[in-house]
Amino acid sequence: MELKYQTGFGNEFATEAVEGALPVGRNSPQRAPLGLYAEQFSGTAFTVPRALNRRTWTYRIRPSVLHKPFQPYHRAISDVQANDAPTLFKSSPFDEVVTTPNQLRWDPLPIPGEPTDLIDGITTIAGNGDSFAQTGIAVHIYACNADMTDRYFYNADGEMLIVPEMGGLTIFTELGVIEVSPGEICCLPRGLRFRIELGVSSPTVREGSSRPAGALTNVRATDTAATDTADANSAARGYICENYGQHFRLPDLGPIGANGLANARDFETPVAWFEDKDGECEIVAKFGGNLWSCTSGHSPLDVVAWHGNYAPYKYDLRRFNTIGSISFDHPDPSIFTVLTSPSGEPGVANCDFVIFPDRWLVGEDTFRPPWYHRNTMSEYMGLIYGAYDAKEEGFVPGGGSLHNQMSAHGPDLDAFEKASNADLKPQKLEGTMAFMFESRYIIRPTKFAMETAQLQHEYSEVWQGLKKNFKL
Ligand SMILES: [Fe+2]
Repeated sequence: MELKYQTGFGNEFATEAVEGALPVGRNSPQRAPLGLYAEQFSGTAFTVPRALNRRTWTYRIRPSVLHKPFQPYHRAISDVQANDAPTLFKSSPFDEVVTTPNQLRWDPLPIPGEPTDLIDGITTIAGNGDSFAQTGIAVHIYACNADMTDRYFYNADGEMLIVPEMGGLTIFTELGVIEVSPGEICCLPRGLRFRIELGVSSPTVREGSSRPAGALTNVRATDTAATDTADANSAARGYICENYGQHFRLPDLGPIGANGLANARDFETPVAWFEDKDGECEIVAKFGGNLWSCTSGHSPLDVVAWHGNYAPYKYDLRRFNTIGSISFDHPDPSIFTVLTSPSGEPGVANCDFVIFPDRWLVGEDTFRPPWYHRNTMSEYMGLIYGAYDAKEEGFVPGGGSLHNQMSAHGPDLDAFEKASNADLKPQKLEGTMAFMFESRYIIRPTKFAMETAQLQHEYSEVWQGLKKNFKL
């Protein structure tokens, strides 16, 4: 399948899969072209200021309302266990366990042994805020080995920022088809209906990139045998930031100027695509913190044409214009912000999505890794590929770490020793891509996250060897 994208961030796009399907000069004519139904898809309140207003007009074969009533959803992972497997896809309030101030770190979750699609393969690690009040985020890991075929999903609680770590995904949405591979991200707006298949038809390889997208990252021995034989089309794993708050947007650039960091023109939104498919299918919804299921007699991906600025997008993280110090000191990591979801308070994010990509380190008389730190913001970190410069080992692709509000963290003993004694020649960090979801609210781990065998109980040992070097 050859995919086409429109470029830009939050643009007023207009696209039709069949010529003449898009009305001209009005949104809702008495009779829409080609016998289609006109339906508005609102991503912000009608009255939000124009610069932030998000909505899209769709022209579809049937209106979205044509489905049977929803029932509570039960995950079915096999005939034997059908309808009694609890979902690990959790939502606010994140009060299953008392939240610890300890630094936490996890190994990657294994790929399931049973055929599991992406929705059933979602495990919630942590979260904060309140989906009912539209604040906060949830941090999920997906690990799956099956396509969504005759079922579809939408999330009424928040947009979903997908960060693949292993294997590509083809995401069929109401508004077009997106392929995304490790090194890229995809954002699916609140309410958008979609289904996801494993693999991509054309893994992207960027010139100058140190690592082809779609290639598998190294998998730790703690993973199951299923993972060892996985290839890019049979298994997938990655991270999801479910954002209950304001939509992710590009950060303001201040004194950086008119260009830099993630440039708007590098974001890609699909062109219109539809399936005219009759027959029973399932629609799973996340609404009010719970999963629901209903049936429909047709595919909900039946939008023949659309126009508007509320749409899914993808972005290749290797196009990020990384800016850093060319004199001394390690800058605050906000310099690496790709997207931000503001809270009501200026400069204080509901969630920042920050990356640590390939870059030059040239600081003179500088301790070059991230410094020791206590932060009023809470930091969940993941690793897409390569190694992170503040940790010598234990932080691996597919794993994660959580350093919550005012919990001390920083380089481990080996990283400290190495950086303190390094010859400070210009150095290029290559083949690495770590990221952070940083939030103003304490990120509360789930019961699963605190009880899983993947939790590294010895994590705090990495700092215990730090010596007293003080001399008068
Ligand atoms: Fe930090």
